[in-house]
Amino acid sequence: MNYRHDFHAGNFADVFKHVILTRILIYLMRKPAPFRFIDTHAGAGRYDLSGAEAERTGEWRAGIGRLDLDAMNPRARELTAPYAALVGAAARGEGFYPGSPAVALAMLRPFDRMLFCDLHPEALKGLKACVGKDKRAKVIALDGYTGLNAFLPPVERRGLILIDPPFEAEDEFERLAGALVSAWRKWRDGVFVAWYPVKAGRGPQLLARHLRDAGIRALRLDFAIAPPEPGQRLTANGLIVINPPFCLEGEAACLLPELVRQLSQGRGAYETGWIEPQGKEIET
Ligand SMILES: C[S@@+](CC[C@H](N)C(=O)[O-])C[C@H]1O[C@@H](n2cnc3c(N)ncnc32)[C@H](O)[C@@H]1O
Repeated sequence: MNYRHDFHAGNFADVFKHVILTRILIYLMRKPAPFRFIDTHAGAGRYDLSGAEAERTGEWRAGIGRLDLDAMNPRARELTAPYAALVGAAARGEGFYPGSPAVALAMLRPFDRMLFCDLHPEALKGLKACVGKDKRAKVIALDGYTGLNAFLPPVERRGLILIDPPFEAEDEFERLAGALVSAWRKWRDGVFVAWYPVKAGRGPQLLARHLRDAGIRALRLDFAIAPPEPGQRLTANGLIVINPPFCLEGEAACLLPELVRQLSQGRGAYETGWIEPQGKEIET
């Protein structure tokens, strides 16, 4: 297990994933009942963009470094504002970029709960420092897929599960698909968000097929800053959302064109669509 998110924090994929994450958390907080956020592959929590790792790749410069709220249309600006407020000076490469745990820690209410899993010692060290004495959150050194199976359904019976694996392993798409299907079978009302890279292979199609075959309906959001390239450089990625908030598709339709316009320098694209259990995929 070599992957460290410190090299990639604040890149285009983080901006996309974390903007959507804030939108779902805001939706969940509209109701007074408590909920739980489970982050199966949580990472270090927050990342120093002036640190050696972030500097080495400079990926944040093509992500959060390009986001300009003032240049967005008013609706997209309004939808992005909660995320931008959390990012603060990280947009200029100063201070810490908030990973998914820091986003949740900043947004959730005193009575909501969080569970963060990771396995990498450095990530766990950062994660524990990020959580500090916050009693709402637990950090567990555990395989994320094992955690998913063990902690569902949560006692609150409301919540969001983020599955954001590093895709180092050849069979990560298969593992993710199997984990999502069995998690959904344990808890059909949960909001599940899974991140995936879009590269040369057929991983995203395989994931969609597994969900369709299991009878799961899901919203698919794809976002690219350039067409997928052979080799290592990530230029395209996607999110699968099972049980998305009713407003998410409309919000994504407003946000994604702006993100493409700001982050892609003319070569990007986005697509939203539904994975339908009947084998019928509708693209919008
Ligand atoms: C993409 S990063 C997570 C980023 C984070 N979710 C965010 O948005 O800020 C993936 C993380 O998964 C962790 N990881 C790798 N294998 C894992 C496993 N089997 N179970 C849990 N975490 C794992 C890595 O250490 C890394 O911190």
